[in-house]
Amino acid sequence: MPGQWKCEEDILCGVNEPKDRESLTDLEKKHIPVVEAPDKVRKDESFQVKVEVGKLHPHPNEAAHFIEWIELYCGDTYLGRASYSGGASFPEATFKVKLSHAHGPLKAWEKCNIHGLWENTKEITVE
Ligand SMILES: [Fe+2]
Repeated sequence: MPGQWKCEEDILCGVNEPKDRESLTDLEKKHIPVVEAPDKVRKDESFQVKVEVGKLHPHPNEAAHFIEWIELYCGDTYLGRASYSGGASFPEATFKVKLSHAHGPLKAWEKCNIHGLWENTKEITVE
């Protein structure tokens, strides 16, 4: 269950998710990974999933404050990772994915070197 082990007041504990998706704070907008993918895909046919951090509100991209990596999962099944150095690389990634069945929603995690781990999901149907 997402957020199961989250300490409410400690941003570096557990996985951060928006408290109210209808009213995001600037901190949440800077860190929520935006997941773009089809709503429905065909079994065993490849498709693209784009994950972008800072799309809702720009996140700093400098040596002292940057997005370290983005990971993509389907449910709890690991699909891939992209890493960034800050400054010269931008925290967005496009993954080519093929699913034989739905393991759960697509799930992106991103890690900010200062503000910890953040999650977003997108429902997907495999037919
Ligand atoms: Fe940050």
